[in-house]
Amino acid sequence: YVIGIDLGTSAVKTILVDQNGEVAAEATKRYPLIQIKSGYSEQDPELWVKQTILSLIELVSQFHGDPKDIEGVSFSGQMHGLVLLGENNQVLRPAILWNDTRTSPQCELITKEFGEEILRISKNRVLEGFTLPKILWVKEHEPEVFQQTTHFLLPKDYVRYRMTGMIHSEYSDAAGTLLLDIAKKEWNLEICNKFEIPINICPPLIESHAFVGTLLSEIADETGLAPETKVFAGGADNACGAIGAGILSPMYTLCSIGTSGVILSYEDDKERDYNGKVHFFNHGNPESFYSMGVTLSAGQSLTWFKDTFAKNESFEQLMEGIDEIPAGSNGLLFTPYLFGERTPYPDSSIRASFIGMNGTHKREHFVRAVMEGIIFSLNESIEIYREEGKTVDTIISIGGGAKSDVWLQMQADIFNTRVVKLKSEQGPGLGAAMLAAFGAGWFSSLEECANQFIQFTDEFLPQAEQVINYKKLFKIYQLIYLNTKEISE
Ligand code: XUL
Repeated sequence: YVIGIDLGTSAVKTILVDQNGEVAAEATKRYPLIQIKSGYSEQDPELWVKQTILSLIELVSQFHGDPKDIEGVSFSGQMHGLVLLGENNQVLRPAILWNDTRTSPQCELITKEFGEEILRISKNRVLEGFTLPKILWVKEHEPEVFQQTTHFLLPKDYVRYRMTGMIHSEYSDAAGTLLLDIAKKEWNLEICNKFEIPINICPPLIESHAFVGTLLSEIADETGLAPETKVFAGGADNACGAIGAGILSPMYTLCSIGTSGVILSYEDDKERDYNGKVHFFNHGNPESFYSMGVTLSAGQSLTWFKDTFAKNESFEQLMEGIDEIPAGSNGLLFTPYLFGERTPYPDSSIRASFIGMNGTHKREHFVRAVMEGIIFSLNESIEIYREEGKTVDTIISIGGGAKSDVWLQMQADIFNTRVVKLKSEQGPGLGAAMLAAFGAGWFSSLEECANQFIQFTDEFLPQAEQVINYKKLFKIYQLIYLNTKEISE
């Protein structure tokens, strides 16, 4: 057996996985966000450790075999968060998380002074969520904390440190800091020097499947795991989500609809450059990468519609009858910019629209239009890939978008590609468990592990007539942003 620990934003989820990739047990422990001011989002790293241990205790208690049969543990983690350690590796202040937006002034400064160089080196545009602006915020507002800093760590790398005593970062999470040279896989001295960040606060870098050490004896005692349990580095949640969905070849692109929506594609060429139009990060698979476009309000748009107009209904009830509405919702279009957008418009102040209403539209038209608008927005990322000459062959659909056949067919028709779903969806925790399985030597590659652990099912193919209809509508959809971007509250 191996364990995947998924250190998320609201909870830590652990799963115990057997040699066939079947989940034998799972446990979840939650923790709160600390939001002392508007735009602030912090968490107490000590609580991550405490809840991870509690979750492991519960997981191990569900396992009736010999703990020695649990060979390895690895991690998936919320990205970008800043943990600062002092001289004795004590935490100096609460972690500043990926969804904390206090750093706009730091982002402006970085972009003005070094934005193009950062884009060239780190392959990403400067955004509030990323780690470098957070470091600069602490440097400016809490100089005494910055002075004492001996290391910065990303969230799951801190939890791993507490379980093993070893300080490391791994490439897939380091890629979200804006301090990593993505192609060379090393911390970039030029960026550190430019912003007077001592490069020695950047932790040593290792691969995601690298063996870090065995469990500290007190952690083994507390959790009931064997002290010889091997700990492997792990990866960023998006990288682990990709691994756990089998995105391990350029043939596969992921469409994930949660609160936000993600189009994520495997990249094997480090020279590939989207000029910051989509994120570009190191994958958890050695020598590979992934690119990623984000729709900020994906599932959230449908939830908003339900909560506003059909509060007491389930999503199934809300979606009743939409299969009888023609593709394109009789000319009704929706743009899902309820809270701004990230791809293709990194614009937090734009707002959503319904356009093209007529007197015969019913509620079902609006529901269908919302679902289509979410896919149109995700299709903007696919269009970026196609414009850059990338082939998008097969979409693996997960999350809310994979729960409805109508929505899956819509994806096939709007993306104009084959869409499949997973037989069993386990999320980033499975990707973490796969890194442990690969690290422990069960498989000679992650691909081999994916062949054993992951199965696709239910295929949806594009229907020629609908593809043409949607192409026309998508052109109109794209004009909405350009013509409504001045609207603000
Ligand atoms: C990625 C991002 C989020 C976090 C969530 O850039 O900000 O997906 O990884 O944990």
